[in-house]
Amino acid sequence: MPSFLEIADFYDDLMKDVPYRMWTGYYLLLLAQQNVKPQRVLDVCCGTGTMCEMLTREGKELTGFDLSETMIRVARQKAHKKRLKIRYEVADVTSLDLGDTFEGAYSFFDSLNYITDAESLSQAIVRVSQHLDLGGSFVFDLNTAYAFEAKMFDQHNKNPRAKVRYDWKGDWDPHARIIRVHMKFWVGDQEYEETHVQRAHSDEEVRAMLDEAGFDEVRCFESYGLDQPRKRSDRVHYSAIKRRDP
Ligand SMILES: C[S@@+](CC[C@H](N)C(=O)[O-])C[C@H]1O[C@@H](n2cnc3c(N)ncnc32)[C@H](O)[C@@H]1O
Repeated sequence: MPSFLEIADFYDDLMKDVPYRMWTGYYLLLLAQQNVKPQRVLDVCCGTGTMCEMLTREGKELTGFDLSETMIRVARQKAHKKRLKIRYEVADVTSLDLGDTFEGAYSFFDSLNYITDAESLSQAIVRVSQHLDLGGSFVFDLNTAYAFEAKMFDQHNKNPRAKVRYDWKGDWDPHARIIRVHMKFWVGDQEYEETHVQRAHSDEEVRAMLDEAGFDEVRCFESYGLDQPRKRSDRVHYSAIKRRDP
């Protein structure tokens, strides 16, 4: 089963403790550090659109896209119910063609780790660049190899009172820099299974790809602060500005 298809309907329940509000504030902080204020913003791999909603409420005009039709279906239903005007599309970032450009783009919550080879990540970054105006901002996070080595994806919640119970086990291949996380979920009597594959992209690779795609002023932070990443940072955030066409 491809990832994020079956779990879309309970993704928000599963993520109920994820600090999206803090992440939105952190995104705004990184934009302030870049000295930019994008109005038209693209959420790359938006999932069920929680950050799109928060940024819309901050007065921005959001477009979000995701590979998973079911995640986009949930995102559209949520926006409709909350009367929020957000454009959502089903699209693969590696072949993105929305026929539009934006002043800013961001991708949060491991999404670019789901692109599991360097060539495809490079294509994805070029595609994002092609959707940005000159001077446009790109901010994204990445899980590091340390997160995978440290077994941060070995997680479970088997509390019978939880709406969604789960049991995840990661299988990390340090040579390929790939982790395969075998995930089981239970909602009521129903059992679901997905295998999520992520790659730990190296800092060197990412910087070379950003450069090739026309980005400059590349900065990398230990997530949720403004410090440089450390050896044991499990997640990092990059910010960059598009200065030329790829
Ligand atoms: C962990 S979820 C994060 C979703 C959302 N950004 C959030 O913060 O909740 C990763 C998302 O990346 C999407 N994704 C993975 N590969 C993709 C691709 N090639 N193109 C577009 N979306 C992709 C998945 O469908 C999934 O919704």
